[in-house]
Amino acid sequence: MIEARFDGTWEGWRDTARGLLANEIRPQEVLWTQETGQQALSGILATVDTGTSVPLRVPRGFLEDAAVVACHRSPEPWAVLYRLLYRLTHGERHLLEVTSDKDVLEFRRMEKAVRRDIHKMHAFVRFRKTGENRYVAWHRPDHRIARINAPFFVRRFGSMHWAILTPDESAYWDTQTLRFGPGVPRSEAPAQDDLEELWRTYYASVFNPARVKVNAMVKEMAVRHWPTLPEADIIPKLLAEAGTRVEVMGAARRESAAPFVPETVELPVLREAAAVCEGCDLHRHATRTVFGEGPLDGGVVFVGEQPGDLEDLAGRPFVGPAGQLLDEVLREAGIDRESLYITNAVKHFKFEERGKRRIHQTPRGVEIAACRPWLEAEMKILQPRLIVCLGATAAQSVFGRAVRVNAERGQFLPNHMAEAAFVTIHPSALLRMPDPAMAAAERSRFVEELRRVRAWLG
Ligand code: URA
Repeated sequence: MIEARFDGTWEGWRDTARGLLANEIRPQEVLWTQETGQQALSGILATVDTGTSVPLRVPRGFLEDAAVVACHRSPEPWAVLYRLLYRLTHGERHLLEVTSDKDVLEFRRMEKAVRRDIHKMHAFVRFRKTGENRYVAWHRPDHRIARINAPFFVRRFGSMHWAILTPDESAYWDTQTLRFGPGVPRSEAPAQDDLEELWRTYYASVFNPARVKVNAMVKEMAVRHWPTLPEADIIPKLLAEAGTRVEVMGAARRESAAPFVPETVELPVLREAAAVCEGCDLHRHATRTVFGEGPLDGGVVFVGEQPGDLEDLAGRPFVGPAGQLLDEVLREAGIDRESLYITNAVKHFKFEERGKRRIHQTPRGVEIAACRPWLEAEMKILQPRLIVCLGATAAQSVFGRAVRVNAERGQFLPNHMAEAAFVTIHPSALLRMPDPAMAAAERSRFVEELRRVRAWLG
């Protein structure tokens, strides 16, 4: 047995794991031990030579997700991470696609829990003013997320001096530099201040009585967070008034991504916010948000329907069978996929589970509408010349109304998000056609339409 001692951080684990891999140490031979204090300022491998570490050749996105999983408090994620890493680099390169695999399931379960906690921290951190432009917040997350979450607060509150204290670790920002220090107990965080009144007023104004479900509320805003939330003491009053306010408000508000969409001109900020979107129910079952990707200045955006099974796992649009067909057809039409920004009308995979398989389900109108604010925000940043809608769902989102593809395809139509929008079929429609002759004819028409797109773009 090899005892792998490291400092309990993601970086420490990663360096140690590299050393183990370089020495071909199998997961079952490793005992992961977290050290604190001087002897473990960086990852230290006790009994094997770390001098010869190897670059990690793993599927795109794995290390990013692994860094999230590394924040999971319990059970310790290190052994699962090393098992996956070992298997991915020893002949099981596509392991992450095997969603029923025990290690993969555990990895995704931890990832989901941590991402949810990250999202909650965005919502529940409340700063208290301690001096001129100086603010302190204390928060108790479920997982060790102070470090991974700090860049979000830097972007949001970059011009403030702030400290976010958590029992595990604390983050400090002085408008220039982000630093980390030890955890801080609740008793050391400031309690009262003038910001609280502001928060209470704000909370009362956004409190939506039509959506009150006390049990759900307790679940979302764990009672544990209440002492740190200034609005907590007005909740009973708001709940008592809820009945009357529902009548005044009329129908409950629709599900929408809008409250999750930040005002920003930066696509990475938008992408990060979309990762924690809970604007409709689809996020509950999907692995993750699949956001758009591609160059910002290509002038053309292709919009699909929603990620499929493989896209949901890979976190990238059009990488499965429909994506491969799209690649072929684009090539025949003389369009370089790399020059396109590709996104979807709906950013979470909607499916039905049948045994081990996840079968695609077409999103409903309310889901398309709920997700539309993301597409609008993407287009506002990209300002494309042309939007190409692949199929009816994409067209419905782009035009904001139901579109019959056969009636409107092949034309450059006016649209508020671009100079023009163009409707064509979705590649998976070709994959579903039972008659090969019909599929071949439709494919030629698809290629011909994309050639016209290329010509229009010049
Ligand atoms: N189908 C889509 O519409 N989008 C994808 O990303 C994959 C398949």
